[in-house]
Amino acid sequence: MRAAIVDELGRTPRLGQRPDPVERAGHTLVRVTAAALNPVDLHIASGTHPAGAPAGPFVPGVEGVGTVVAGGTLPAGTRVRVAVPGGLVDGTLAEYVLAPDQTCVPLPDGLDDDLAAAVGVVGVSALLALRDEAALRPGESVLVLGATGGLGQALVATARALGAGRVVAAGRNADRLKALGATADATLTLPSAPDAPPTTAEELAAIGGPVDVVADLLWGPHAALAATALRPGGRWVNLGQTAGGHARLDAAVLRHLRLRLSGFSAAALPPARVVAAYQEVATLAADGTLPLSVTPYPLDGVADAWTAQAASPGTKLVLRP
Ligand SMILES: NC(=O)c1ccc[n+]([C@@H]2O[C@H](COP(=O)([O-])OP(=O)(O)OC[C@H]3O[C@@H](n4cnc5c(N)ncnc54)[C@H](OP(=O)(O)O)[C@@H]3O)[C@@H](O)[C@H]2O)c1
Repeated sequence: MRAAIVDELGRTPRLGQRPDPVERAGHTLVRVTAAALNPVDLHIASGTHPAGAPAGPFVPGVEGVGTVVAGGTLPAGTRVRVAVPGGLVDGTLAEYVLAPDQTCVPLPDGLDDDLAAAVGVVGVSALLALRDEAALRPGESVLVLGATGGLGQALVATARALGAGRVVAAGRNADRLKALGATADATLTLPSAPDAPPTTAEELAAIGGPVDVVADLLWGPHAALAATALRPGGRWVNLGQTAGGHARLDAAVLRHLRLRLSGFSAAALPPARVVAAYQEVATLAADGTLPLSVTPYPLDGVADAWTAQAASPGTKLVLRP
């Protein structure tokens, strides 16, 4: 079969040939029609991911959609979304993938394959981080720190879908923030230089004042903003660290505002919880409630897509085998 192949850790994938997967118990053979690219794919392929370093050559890709060919509990021809630890086993950036049966979710009618692939990891993470981890209630306000990428766009749209009263999108790219204007109530352009002055009280007032929940995928120098943008008793969920793994926080702010800081990782979820969440996300996506910018590439464009993902594309990249 044709597949994206990483020859050794740290290398950009190339299109090549890989043996077809061999059917085995507990697994469903799926012909892939669309597979999303995620930052975690590059992380695994770098060899520094905590889950382990793949031995090359390997096929990346942790999620995808396609049609059942054989095996499993669903009839052949069923459109499904699947998840695998791509790289550590042969992943979804290939014509076929062998996925554990318990990760296969039938897709609703009306949801096209590209969007179904794109909303997987980011949609599930956004839903569970906001609703379950942050316990967001209808009418509450949300600030998304890092709103312009795939996960950020999903967080903004999901906050809206969960009934948030005010959704603020923050990021360093003013043009990309403007494009979120339809789903966000306000935007906040973050300083791009690490030593730039912090966001001012006037800027916070301009976005409507303090918020109930911060969903943060940036950390680094922007973490301090979360601490000043939350109301007393506010909840702050960290999902990533694209701006840096370390932050300076004044512990007094946590205590005096009685803030609750927690972390969320979709990678730590049991498959059944991911499946249930994906079903909800797919329904939202099918009815247009979860709009994401999606850019498809043919599988033979995998090297270009990989390079674009490394540079923060501002859109969900999807490979079509
Ligand atoms: N915890 C979880 O369950 C979970 C789930 C999915 C993803 N993640 C993690 O969340 C992060 C974002 O994922 P994604 O899919 O949204 O990636 P993405 O589409 O590549 O988006 C990256 C985002 O980070 C911003 N960014 C990157 N470097 C920055 C910097 N130095 N300063 C400020 N902003 C910066 C980008 O802003 P620009 O648009 O301005 O470039 C963009 O908004 C990744 O670390 C990913 O591994 C975590």
